[in-house]
Amino acid sequence: MKFLRNTWYCAGWSQDLLDKPLAITLLNEPVVIYRGEDGTAIALEDRCPHRFAPLSKGKVQGNNIACGYHGLVFDAKGNGTYNPHGNGAIPKGCSVKYYPVIEAQGVIWIWMGEASQADPASIIDIGECDKREGWTSVHGYLNVKCHYELVADNLLDLSHVPYLHSFLSSDEEPPAGFKEERKVEVEGNTVWSMHWNYNCPVSPLFSLLWDEAPAIGTLRAHMCWQPPSVLYLDTGFSAENGTIEDGACFPGIHLITPENEHTSHYFYAVARNKKLDDAGLNEGIRIQINNAFEFEDEPMVEACHERMPETDLIALKPVYLPGDVAGMRARRKLQELIQAETSA
Ligand code: FES
Ligand SMILES: [Fe+2]
Repeated sequence: MKFLRNTWYCAGWSQDLLDKPLAITLLNEPVVIYRGEDGTAIALEDRCPHRFAPLSKGKVQGNNIACGYHGLVFDAKGNGTYNPHGNGAIPKGCSVKYYPVIEAQGVIWIWMGEASQADPASIIDIGECDKREGWTSVHGYLNVKCHYELVADNLLDLSHVPYLHSFLSSDEEPPAGFKEERKVEVEGNTVWSMHWNYNCPVSPLFSLLWDEAPAIGTLRAHMCWQPPSVLYLDTGFSAENGTIEDGACFPGIHLITPENEHTSHYFYAVARNKKLDDAGLNEGIRIQINNAFEFEDEPMVEACHERMPETDLIALKPVYLPGDVAGMRARRKLQELIQAETSA
């Protein structure tokens, strides 16, 4: 199974790239990311061409990186620039692959394809989340042992919530007048999976944002997918007849990057619009959200992946349910883009 290459992937949160080189495998390629002296994030192949030592075990020198094994030095474009041995000449082929990197919206975006085609304007704008106060409050990362499209499917089909996440749903019987509405919309490369629950009891998560939460209201959970695997969740709970703005909102982004065909990097961030100064609540929300992913979603999608004899879901002829529509549209879009890239 091929990956889309000429696109921007999340390689990490900017706040986590400090003074040490980070080693990360992306699309099955070992990558070292480090911050140069001038503060820019630099990404190179994490394999020295001499004896294949990981450059991530080396030292940053200015905007260069020195191999920790025999001291060859590479610049920010991956060219060998210093050889401490013999007459000091740079041996033929003494270079490593370089990956364009842009830091925007708190994300380290990396271009895994043809460097000359890297277009900063094509970075997906997750600014809608960024502009909301409190956005930076909760960030997380999980390494998930399954194909990355299973993680996206899981996010696009929120019909699993009442079965898997007690904290995000209510235990109580739906009250009289409870109504669900589902809609999928596709526009260009964007797939929206929209859910509304009307006359719905407030869940424990949303009630955290109020001193006195309305017992019944409207829950919305609209997940937006864009290729390769960038998802934005607009979710909130508002009182009956109340506005969305007056309600409790937990907008979130979910950035999924293939580590290889069988494991995925899952970066997520969740904001809120109420109780912004409550630091204790930050930690409470972080733990609850992380627990939902780590102890509920992750074990389930990993177990599904284990049961799949191959990573191509469609080839396994799965049974379809209404909640699968958005995930299937996203999968189809991605395949179209991969095919177009392959034939080009
Ligand atoms: S392995 Fe890098 S200099 Fe020898
Ligand atoms: Fe989930």
